[in-house]
Amino acid sequence: MNKDEKPLLQVVGLTTYFFSFRGERIVKAVDNVSFAVRKGERLVIIGESGCGKSTVALSLLRVLPPSAKIVAGEILFEGEDLLKKTPKEMARIRGKQLSMILQDTMLSLDPVFSIGNQIGETLERHTNLRGEALRGRIKQLLLDVRIPDPERRLKQFPHQMSGGMRQRIVGAIALSCEPKLLIADEATTNLDVTIQLQYLNLLKEIQKKTGVTLLFITHNLGIVAELCENVIVMYAGKIVERSPVMEIFDDPGHPYTKALLQAAFGLQDLSKRKPIPGEPPNLANLPPGCSFHPRCPYGKERCRQEEPIEISLNPTRSVKCWYPVTIGSQNIPMPKIEDAGNFKNLMG
Ligand SMILES: Nc1ncnc2c1ncn2[C@@H]1O[C@H](COP(=O)(O)OP(=O)(O)OP(=O)(O)O)[C@@H](O)[C@H]1O
Ligand SMILES: [Mg+2]
Repeated sequence: MNKDEKPLLQVVGLTTYFFSFRGERIVKAVDNVSFAVRKGERLVIIGESGCGKSTVALSLLRVLPPSAKIVAGEILFEGEDLLKKTPKEMARIRGKQLSMILQDTMLSLDPVFSIGNQIGETLERHTNLRGEALRGRIKQLLLDVRIPDPERRLKQFPHQMSGGMRQRIVGAIALSCEPKLLIADEATTNLDVTIQLQYLNLLKEIQKKTGVTLLFITHNLGIVAELCENVIVMYAGKIVERSPVMEIFDDPGHPYTKALLQAAFGLQDLSKRKPIPGEPPNLANLPPGCSFHPRCPYGKERCRQEEPIEISLNPTRSVKCWYPVTIGSQNIPMPKIEDAGNFKNLMG
């Protein structure tokens, strides 16, 4: 990035907690998270289930459930802090500037409205398009996401379409107002591999076609290589490593990243690959020191006591660890999206 160029999105010290009804239990879902996304970048946030990835996304859009609260931080979008916007201003920004595409389409589409109505609603909210012009734009969007016969499709309802087709509709809605940042949150549970592949290929297609800035969220390292250029690894609500995707495959710096990679790709024999031993910590009761130390094969006394600071490994890489692994090349071949199913169960 040109040094003078401001990032499209800059998140500074974002801290989002969930509070129990009486406030006696605090889940530190996102804790002091900072990162930037420059225009046109494809960044992925990765980490095991429950590490806070979706909470980051929901915080950016300010659509958190009532039990959650952003307790600190700034979310600068084109230099303006989204946390200072009124709910009305945020409603104008959502869908228009920042838009989110969920893998689970049943959460995004309303079963009682036709496809045309649902795409039209977003366009009417954010643009002046009406009547024939609106209809024309809806049809074009359907064609853009490769839905044939848009005239017939726009009168249909979600249940009349296949899973892959519904995803394309959600893609069309997300793109309808040409957002500057597209956040894609891949669900962890209950999705069959075919649907996952369709979703990933759709994202790849959309990104190639529009060049939209992409913040992709997944628990599955196997699929990021083709889609993203930079990666952020989260563990227990914090960022533990950041790196270009190419380099992290070759030479992971954080023991957690290394464990993730080995779990997914370490052994040729798929049946011998194992998830990382132990469980991620309870975010309402984190261990002292480094949150990963109870599972870390390299942990030392200092890791049990002192929380690590972020150390720069080179100008594009950093790691939050007292003893970054320096194991050299792992020679892990870059995985393809088509292999997604092979890695799915290891990372969840
Ligand atoms: N509504 C909620 N109330 C209380 N705690 C919550 C709520 N939603 C999420 N959490 C907690 O916040 C933490 C982060 O959850 P989040 O959904 O952000 O994880 P994630 O990384 O997106 O996981 P996944 O890969 O499964 O989608 C988890 O420990 C989770 O239990
Ligand atoms: Mg999630």
